[in-house]
Amino acid sequence: MRIDIITVLPKILESPFDQSILKRAQDKGLVEVHVHDLRKYTTFKHRQVDDYAYGHNAGMVMMIEPIANCIEALKKEREYEVIMYMTPDGETFNQQTANRLSLSENIMILCGHYKGVDQRIRDRYITHEISIGDYVLSGGELAAAVVADALIRLVPGVLSDETSALTDSFQDGLLAPPVYTRPAEWDGMKVPDILLSGHEANIQKWQEEQALQRTKERRPDLYKKYMGEE
Ligand code: 6GU
Repeated sequence: MRIDIITVLPKILESPFDQSILKRAQDKGLVEVHVHDLRKYTTFKHRQVDDYAYGHNAGMVMMIEPIANCIEALKKEREYEVIMYMTPDGETFNQQTANRLSLSENIMILCGHYKGVDQRIRDRYITHEISIGDYVLSGGELAAAVVADALIRLVPGVLSDETSALTDSFQDGLLAPPVYTRPAEWDGMKVPDILLSGHEANIQKWQEEQALQRTKERRPDLYKKYMGEE
């Protein structure tokens, strides 16, 4: 998988990809992440990338030219299955979308800023418009990092068996059960006996019950779906 991220703030995207699982995925050659500074693609004075919006709306809009230059340059090099625009008015991101997108080989992500990009960029190039939730961020960069993280960990070989994505919350439509590690007792608080029993079948049954109960309490919407009521 190769992910190209287009942004006016490339620095924000340095550290998320430079540690832990996301770094290892790149070191192993399973994933490439390339961050492109939009200001390198403008031919305007002072490396301008935004301009006043038409109409009476306050605020600036990201101009067509640098974005189109950057997208075209990338498209010349390879074919992109996904050209994503990060925007609060996009489709809400979830695990199902992550699973589907993680099968792509080449993904481009455009980070929105200011009042967003000129609509013609969206009309011409964008295949997926994605939001990460119903709240507003000051730019698409952190949202792009969230989406890239969710996709990268699904690439085969990125996670080890112990951390397999198959046991993640949401993968089976349920939240994950509670987990414990040593010590078996801390300040009067005990790890549930069943987890210390060594009885694999019972442990699994307990974990499934806990997952169901948690989901019912915390996410009745997911629970209903899981039980086939919706
Ligand atoms: Cl993708 N961008 C911005 N600016 N805000 C958001 C978002 C994206 N998703 C949720 N809020």
